[in-house]
Amino acid sequence: MPKLFLRMKLLLPAAVFLPVLASCSDGDAAYKIGVSQCAGGIWREKVNSEMLAAQHLYRRDVEVSIADAHDDVALQVHQIDSLVESGIHLLVVAPGESEAVADAIVRVRRCGIPVVFFDRKADTDEYTAFIGGDNEAVGRDVGNYIVGHLKQRQGEGGGRKLRVLEITGAMHSSPAQDRHRGFSNVMAICPDVDYRYVESDWTGKGGYETVLAEKDNDWDVVFCHNDGMADGACQAYLDMGTAEPAKVIGVDGMPGKNQGIDYVEKGRFHATYIYPTHGEEIVKLALQILTGEPYERENVLQGMLVTPDNVTMTALTSNELMSQVNNLVTIHDKLEESLGLYNTQHKALLVSLLSLAVLIVALLLITRALLQMRRTLRERQAMHEEETLFYTNPDSRRLKQVFEMREEDLPAVRSQDAIFAETLNKAIRQNMSNPGLKMDELGEKMGISRVQLYRKVKALTGLTPVELLRQMRLQQAYVLLSTTCKTVNEIAYEVGFGTPGYFSRCFKHQYGKYPTELRELTK
Ligand code: FRU
Repeated sequence: MPKLFLRMKLLLPAAVFLPVLASCSDGDAAYKIGVSQCAGGIWREKVNSEMLAAQHLYRRDVEVSIADAHDDVALQVHQIDSLVESGIHLLVVAPGESEAVADAIVRVRRCGIPVVFFDRKADTDEYTAFIGGDNEAVGRDVGNYIVGHLKQRQGEGGGRKLRVLEITGAMHSSPAQDRHRGFSNVMAICPDVDYRYVESDWTGKGGYETVLAEKDNDWDVVFCHNDGMADGACQAYLDMGTAEPAKVIGVDGMPGKNQGIDYVEKGRFHATYIYPTHGEEIVKLALQILTGEPYERENVLQGMLVTPDNVTMTALTSNELMSQVNNLVTIHDKLEESLGLYNTQHKALLVSLLSLAVLIVALLLITRALLQMRRTLRERQAMHEEETLFYTNPDSRRLKQVFEMREEDLPAVRSQDAIFAETLNKAIRQNMSNPGLKMDELGEKMGISRVQLYRKVKALTGLTPVELLRQMRLQQAYVLLSTTCKTVNEIAYEVGFGTPGYFSRCFKHQYGKYPTELRELTK
């Protein structure tokens, strides 16, 4: 029984902890990609959702975690360190300020973690790869468009210089620097353009306030580094009630209502540049790096200028694409939901099966223990019945006398018990002169255990083995006293008593007289 409890003790916690173990089976993803976004906004939300959807695109166990620094560079540095601490395998980062984030990037690289710059770069060459639009080309393409198309029309209308204002994004970020470089290079080689730039901060408010501040300047074209600032600029013209506002050009070209492409179609913007997102390509590049596949270090994503000439076609295609993407997102969400349900059911099934297995083993152990108990009880009962039979059965009583018989007086046909009794009788007689004789040892020589010997002797004689030995010694002494001339002392030693005094006391107790008294009687 204690063994059973020991097993149960081991099994029960197993049954209790199995559900816990099963629920813990979801380990970490094989590829943990941390994304550090310098800011939020609709353009970055699109990249983020594309990256999250791409987790399920490449038949790999990918986990994308995104941190948004809300245009706070100190927060971005902190978030980068935290992502590293959380155990990411690769960092994807759009640095808010190219200089301020550089040290944090170097730290990440020193930890052996690959770094992928996307959209923006930092002032360090210690990055693994870059993926994003070509911002210099953005500025250059917009500049060339202005020079090629708008100046030409301006020329047709009277020949005055084309007045162009560039409102840049925050110049501590690489896209603002690159877009400005591309744009100003084109402006620089164009003598018929009156060009100036003002630094702003990527926000609609920035674009709005810049245009208000420029109200006395009759700009023909305002190129804003993103659609947010372009939107602010248009609003400023509307609020000022300018009769002939400048043609506003933005960058980003997001699909959807009241976004860049829509604004070009509605005539609010003159043009916008589609600045590519492609979150799925970012995750693909990250996986190539993590799995050791070959990859390009510089990966340029293609953009395009949307102008009144191509906006209808572009809007059609991009709206179509957007609704398909939305459908995919819905399908993906539903799949996630079903997958979640499947996983829960799968886990529940696993837990039930394991618990059932534990219960079956426990039941088997209990049954085995009960059967064993029943067997032991039956054996005890049988023994008890045997004993009762012995004391009530005259044949058995006769068996006791075997110990009082000499070998030559024994009957020829004997039972198993009789044979045992004879053998023991013989063994005791042969060894009784040894005062150190141990009944257990005699039993062992006969091939039976101490307990078996005890039970058997008790059942056959009603005496314990030690009592039987003493009784047989005294009987033999009685015979020797009555039939020989040996002294009491000699007889005491011969039958195995350690001291004659003890022998005399035992003899008197057994026969009611001392050995010397018997000797007197039998002389
Ligand atoms: C969004 C954004 C875009 C712009 C890009 C440049 O945060 O300002 O509007 O094109 O970043 O990095």
